[in-house]
Amino acid sequence: MGEFILELKGVTKRFPGVLALNEAHLSLRPAEVHCLLGENGAGKSTLMKILAGAQPLDEGEILLDGEPVTIQSPLHAQELGISMIYQEFNLSPYMSVAENIFLGREPVKGKSPIIDWARLYADAEAILKRIGVKLDVRRPVHELSIAQQQMVEIAKALSIEARIIVMDEPSATLTDHELDALFTLIRTLKHQGIALVYISHRMEEIFEIGNRATIMRDGAHIVTKDLCDLSREEIIQQMVGRELKDEFPKEVFPVGQERLRVEGLTRRGHFEDISFALHEGEIVGLTGLVGAGRTEVARAIFGADPIDRGTVYLNGEEVKITSPRDAIARGIGLLTEDRKGQGLVLGMSVAENTTLANLKALMGRLFMDRKKERSVTEQYIHELAIKTPSGAQIVQNLSGGNQQKVVLAKWLYTESRLLIFDEPTRGIDVGAKVEIYKLMNELVRQGVAILVISSELPEILGMCDRILVMHEGHIAGELQRGAASQEDIMHLATGATVATT
Ligand SMILES: Nc1ncnc2c1ncn2[C@@H]1O[C@H](COP(=O)(O)OP(=O)(O)OP(=O)(O)O)[C@@H](O)[C@H]1O
Ligand SMILES: [Mg+2]
Repeated sequence: MGEFILELKGVTKRFPGVLALNEAHLSLRPAEVHCLLGENGAGKSTLMKILAGAQPLDEGEILLDGEPVTIQSPLHAQELGISMIYQEFNLSPYMSVAENIFLGREPVKGKSPIIDWARLYADAEAILKRIGVKLDVRRPVHELSIAQQQMVEIAKALSIEARIIVMDEPSATLTDHELDALFTLIRTLKHQGIALVYISHRMEEIFEIGNRATIMRDGAHIVTKDLCDLSREEIIQQMVGRELKDEFPKEVFPVGQERLRVEGLTRRGHFEDISFALHEGEIVGLTGLVGAGRTEVARAIFGADPIDRGTVYLNGEEVKITSPRDAIARGIGLLTEDRKGQGLVLGMSVAENTTLANLKALMGRLFMDRKKERSVTEQYIHELAIKTPSGAQIVQNLSGGNQQKVVLAKWLYTESRLLIFDEPTRGIDVGAKVEIYKLMNELVRQGVAILVISSELPEILGMCDRILVMHEGHIAGELQRGAASQEDIMHLATGATVATT
């Protein structure tokens, strides 16, 4: 047997108008964590889908233990010991956690076709315990948070005895605590001889968990190296194809009039007594651990959830916002963290999604102004470097990060004067992040106020004028730009009491 348990060689894959993979290759050693890196749309997920039998290749070959194989289907891949955690979840929302984990492989009673529910639940609990997650296995998946759904995906992949496990951006939705659990698990799997492919846009993680890295660009292989021979700068340069000078191009603008003020905002069981203000010219960060109530506060302001108590002022006037529609009409935009569930209509085109929240700007007297729709879309495709053959492409066909860019475009193309961004750069590559930060600057320059919810502390520290830190449904403190560190934020976020600056 050779050095590699798996080799993907010269893999080429075409979609209509797109060369997704251009003679890509990847080789895995047993017991290694191999990071697969590249910009949004570089071909990472496509290569892994081919490995997992979810898509056929056009050219190239796959060697397993040195022997050529043709992977026919996802089931076949599983039989070969290949397991994959997808970037876009594949869960059945109305089925329970346990049913999702063992979907199609439920334990049965003896030889009968009757599902052995007791064993199903017990087995599911055992797997969740292995990854250190507390979840009611009987709960339907749609009731879970995104992070919890992610853990179900991971549990599902682990329920198969695999020798190769692919994780496509597993960390994008996890809290630090859950991430620690995941890394412990990855190390355990590695010690068992399992080879792991780890895809992530978060550089710190790659150095923490990876042994080797392969960098791809435009569907092609660029370099494979031991991570100890790679620097952060070199990775970025190879990924983006140029040097990235300033990761956080923050511009500071004069603070103008108050755009939003909330006083004593309360939704029982979710958050309590939230008070803060947001002014023209400001980017304010709302951070804290996942589950601290940040998204819930945003949804309440946006009229998506009711409040029990509290007052909202918009441009100095008290308002009662009762629905998202109402919020949009009043000039508020909310970019949601869950692009699949709430942000996009996957079956519609890039152009249709981009203009969805501002159709009235495109209405002529009788018909939609399609020409304008096209030019607006082209502008955003250009500004956000959305990788798509054209505005007519169905959003479902874009890479994960490029879908996220379309959600952003949609909210940028509204006349919103107040924008709430929930995890705006999740899954976005380092180069594209900078473009998004520049657009945020541009919006603020035009007088828009921005509230950013983010778990990425460097982003919060790099781009926000003020930082509100939440802990268990309360605002634990406020920090000022330049005077705050990651430690300060974590201190507040974990409930330690300090005097606020
Ligand atoms: N089913 C499809 N139909 C058409 N084009 C597709 C399809 N799937 C992927 N593509 C295209 O192939 C290219 C590679 O996409 P892929 O999803 O592999 O990128 P990625 O490296 O995983 O990016 P990200 O970091 O954004 O997840 C992109 O240009 C994408 O739009
Ligand atoms: Mg991807």
